[in-house]
Amino acid sequence: MQSVYRRLRHHHFDQSPAQIASFKSLIPLSDRFNGANGSRSASTLATKGVGHLVRKGTGGRSSVSGIVATVFGATGFLGRYLVQQLAKMGSQVLVPFRGPEDSQRHLKLMGDLGQIVPMKYNPRDESSIKAVMAKANVVINLIGREYETRNFSFEEVNHHMAEMLAVIAKEHGGIMRYIQVSGLGASPSSPSRMLRAKAAAEEAILRELPEVTVMRPAVMIGTEDRILNPWAHFTKKYSFLPLMGDGSTKIQPVYVADVASAIIAALKDDGSSMGKTYELGGPEIYTIHELAELMYDTIREWPRYVKVPFPVAKVLATPRELLLNKVPFPMPVPTIFNLDLIEALSTDTVVSDDALTFEDLGITPRKLKGYPTEFLIQYRKGGPQYGSTVSEKVSRSWD
Ligand SMILES: NC(=O)c1ccc[n+]([C@@H]2O[C@H](COP(=O)([O-])OP(=O)(O)OC[C@H]3O[C@@H](n4cnc5c(N)ncnc54)[C@H](OP(=O)(O)O)[C@@H]3O)[C@@H](O)[C@H]2O)c1
Repeated sequence: MQSVYRRLRHHHFDQSPAQIASFKSLIPLSDRFNGANGSRSASTLATKGVGHLVRKGTGGRSSVSGIVATVFGATGFLGRYLVQQLAKMGSQVLVPFRGPEDSQRHLKLMGDLGQIVPMKYNPRDESSIKAVMAKANVVINLIGREYETRNFSFEEVNHHMAEMLAVIAKEHGGIMRYIQVSGLGASPSSPSRMLRAKAAAEEAILRELPEVTVMRPAVMIGTEDRILNPWAHFTKKYSFLPLMGDGSTKIQPVYVADVASAIIAALKDDGSSMGKTYELGGPEIYTIHELAELMYDTIREWPRYVKVPFPVAKVLATPRELLLNKVPFPMPVPTIFNLDLIEALSTDTVVSDDALTFEDLGITPRKLKGYPTEFLIQYRKGGPQYGSTVSEKVSRSWD
């Protein structure tokens, strides 16, 4: 298996059937996955979701929801909010992790004793994936990465791993719900390679498990986010913020806990969200410039921007990508000058008019201004109370 992946690592697939077939031939999954004559066998997912599972207790942390969920990618940003919500309703959560023990330690406390079960695994090893899925009746895939590393390409992390999980879940036979977290803007024609890989993953998973629920969150905001934090950090360090293009690209950022709630709502329903794709954007559309203004407003700094035209931003971000596989050491993680992110920002990414959204799951997403962005006060130069809104409100009422 290791040699298989070593070959995959250096090989980027496009979406042609011949290449997908060649990828499948590289991964020694059992023949059962492809059914007779290589045609796909029907999905093994139950059609009613987990609604009929035996539940005990009042629905809190110490009750039993009947859900045993394997959450791939639980050690990430969204993972911590999702695991917390799953555990809070009395679910058992199996947490596959590949890094150090510390990577999952914070999750253990979110559930009752024994309810959060960290399990070391190797995402390139089919048998270890089967082991972490063995006892589950729900699988949620949050694995993803917005930059490449020497070891993992966009396609491997965002597409091939997702496809392998779906294939294994299908063979499992006892999985009642499968939820794939993709990304808003996922499309084969996206300028971003990551979003193209996400689109390919959706297509591949749908082929295996037509009842999969796909969640496409917009850029997520919250204490550990990877947009406002790097912006605020950069601003504090250099006293200005680079604004890609003229800052007019539209995005629809969403509070991370709302995305977790959407996944829970889908899980709890009677199966009506099965086989559907939801686009999860926040209640307001922001331009990049407006979002940066919100950040400046919250950290109480005077806005200073340097507009970086897209071609210049790409030139600045390119050396990392060129050197990635050429130097014998890991390249730094790109934050603001991430080439693929810059590509993604070259077009508007908002929820489409005809998409299923939070509303269809019975959730009202929170506005960003206020609690969801309150974590930014840690960046205020005079401490959290610096330039407090309370004093401003008082002075305004006297005007
Ligand atoms: N954050 C956003 O604004 C945003 C927006 C739209 C969509 N999404 C998508 O939503 C999902 C969750 O996002 P997130 O922000 O929580 O992501 P995250 O913080 O980057 O976490 C990603 C998770 O994927 C795992 N992972 C990454 N590369 C892996 C690899 N090569 N092998 C195995 N596991 C790997 C990580 O494990 P380790 O801890 O071991 O690295 C981590 O648990 C992702 O699919 C992401 O693409 C995110």
